[in-house]
Amino acid sequence: MTKVLFVCLGNICRSPTADGIFRELVKREKLDQKITVDSAGTGDWHIGKAPDSRTVAAAKKRGYDLSVLRARQVSMADFDEFDYVLAMDNANLRDLQRLKPAHFTGHLGLFLEFGSDKNHREVPDPYYGGNDGFELVLDLVEEAAEGLLAHIRQRLY
Ligand code: 4NP
Repeated sequence: MTKVLFVCLGNICRSPTADGIFRELVKREKLDQKITVDSAGTGDWHIGKAPDSRTVAAAKKRGYDLSVLRARQVSMADFDEFDYVLAMDNANLRDLQRLKPAHFTGHLGLFLEFGSDKNHREVPDPYYGGNDGFELVLDLVEEAAEGLLAHIRQRLY
């Protein structure tokens, strides 16, 4: 089993989007017995909440149902559980590097390393912006999800 955890700040916008999109891709490729997907936030403000309604609406228009997801905070124990811990931006990555136990042997890095958009190394936080921000999150995540799956697939067999 390969286990993937997406991490942002609140776990209500970017990482649930990555969770829902990558989960759907894994299911479509019939790899759900081999790859598990989850998401979490570095912050604790939204624990137990559904994703932001703007995130849910934007994702729904592209065929992804994020409404069943609930926010949780990332913990040290996640590094024992997951093989890939993928941060949405550099602040998330710095927080995760501080939390990471010394014995972690998996991959901790930026999610967009698996994308090919050279103008975006980070998934910008859409929380305080307009609708364009949510569409950009979807565009960046859909593209990098394909790259991540190709990367993991090479290592599955
Ligand atoms: P996310 O977006 O990290 O993509 O879930 C945010 C959600 C909430 C807040 C910040 C970013 N907040 O400050 O409450």
